[in-house]
Formats: sequence, C-alpha cells, structure tokens
Amino acid sequence: MSGTTTAPPLEMGFEQHAVRGPLNAAFFRVMDPYIERKLRSIKQHLFNGLPRQVVEIGPGVGANLRYLPVASTLVAIEPNRHMHRPLTAAARQHGVRLDLWEFMAEQTGLPDDCADAVISSLVLCSVQDPDAVLTEVRRILRPGGTFRFLEHVAAPPGTMTRAAQRILRRPWAWIFEGCSCERDLERSLRSAGFRSITIDRYRVHTPFLPFNTHIAGIAQA
Ligand SMILES: C[S@@+](CC[C@H](N)C(=O)[O-])C[C@H]1O[C@@H](n2cnc3c(N)ncnc32)[C@H](O)[C@@H]1O
Repeated sequence: MSGTTTAPPLEMGFEQHAVRGPLNAAFFRVMDPYIERKLRSIKQHLFNGLPRQVVEIGPGVGANLRYLPVASTLVAIEPNRHMHRPLTAAARQHGVRLDLWEFMAEQTGLPDDCADAVISSLVLCSVQDPDAVLTEVRRILRPGGTFRFLEHVAAPPGTMTRAAQRILRRPWAWIFEGCSCERDLERSLRSAGFRSITIDRYRVHTPFLPFNTHIAGIAQA
C-alpha cells in the first residue's frame, strides 16, 4: 500500500510465544475446514464484492483469503510471527498478493483514509484494546469505506453459555493467546463512531461452548 509508514513503538507489545504461537498456527490450519463449514454462509454474505485491495487485521493463517478476488492485494496486519509462513503459503495458493506487516491492529502504521475495506474475523476477542483498534480502523478507512467483521462475543447474562464462558475464560485465554470469550463487542462497535452500522447476532453450534455466540456486520466510516 503506497504511503505505508513504520508504526511507532507501542507501549503494549505482542508476545511471540515459543509454544502457544506455533500451536495456535497449527490449530487454525488443522481446524480451517471445520471453522469454514460453520461460518461459510455468514462469510459469503459479509465478504461479498470486496474491492481488489483489502486491509485485514489479524488474518492468522489466511482463513479469509478464499473470499478475496484472485490477483487482489491483501494488506495483512498480523503481529504473530508464527502465522506468517502459513499465511504467505495460503496467499500464494489463492493467488492473492500479500503485503504483510508485523504490526498490531491498535497501531497499524497505515496512512489516514487509505482503505476502501477493512476486514476481520475472530480478532477483536484477541486484541489488547478493542476500542483502540476500532479507532484505528476508522482512521485508515476512506469516508464511505467499510469495516466487515465477524466475532465471537459474550453470551447474554444468565444463560448457560455465559456461565460456561465465565468458568472457561482463563484456560481459554491461556490456550488461545489472550482471547477473551467475555467481550461485549457489539457495544464497542456501536459506540466506535462509525457513520452507520448493521450487526446480526447468531449462534454457532459447536462443542467449543465459549465460541457459540457470535455477531457479524458491516460498519461504514
Ligand atoms: C483467533 S485468531 C483468528 C485468525 C483469523 N482471522 C481467522 O479467522 O482464522 C486471532 C488472530 O488475531 C491476531 N492478533 C492478536 N492480537 C492482535 C493485534 N493486537 N493486532 C492484530 N492481530 C492480532 C492473532 O495473531 C491471530 O492471528
């Protein structure tokens, strides 16, 4: 992306974990067909008609590359080095040009108003500061550009799923490198100052209980 700058040092940093980093990269590679089956119908709708250059925050091993037009460019903001090799291989396989930056979504280093579309799936649960990430997404989107997101979120209070999320939150966060299954991301998204936003709530039926309550939507800058 032209005009890409070097992100100034952040006070927060991404921990490159020698064991959990490679384990998570392997987990998301192995689980990709399963997760894809569960989320395909939502993603087909969400990522329909993406432009030829897209910014993705936290692309991991490249689960969303299949939704990009062939020969398009993905500007990937992925701080976890363990994801980089499989992501690069997946981009090659899908015929997508990869512009990979080892930065955090809280401070991407991209210029103001540079993107027509920013996408993310299952990322705002893992970032250190979701509100800072949403401010950054708005900053890099051109007026009228869209942020398309799909996230797992806290279940409504008093439900069985919410109780399971409470019980499992610590091991879940440990295994999945800081992922929280208790975030009210709908509230963060609605208060992030986008010009308009649509959010759908839905349930994914899996034995991974903390992962069952989801939202997906499109916000316009
Ligand atoms: C659960 S994985 C999801 C990966 C991919 N989006 C998917 O749907 O399979 C979360 C991803 O967010 C990345 N991540 C964590 N903290 C981040 C941050 N502050 N900025 C950008 N990406 C981050 C992780 O490295 C990981 O690749």
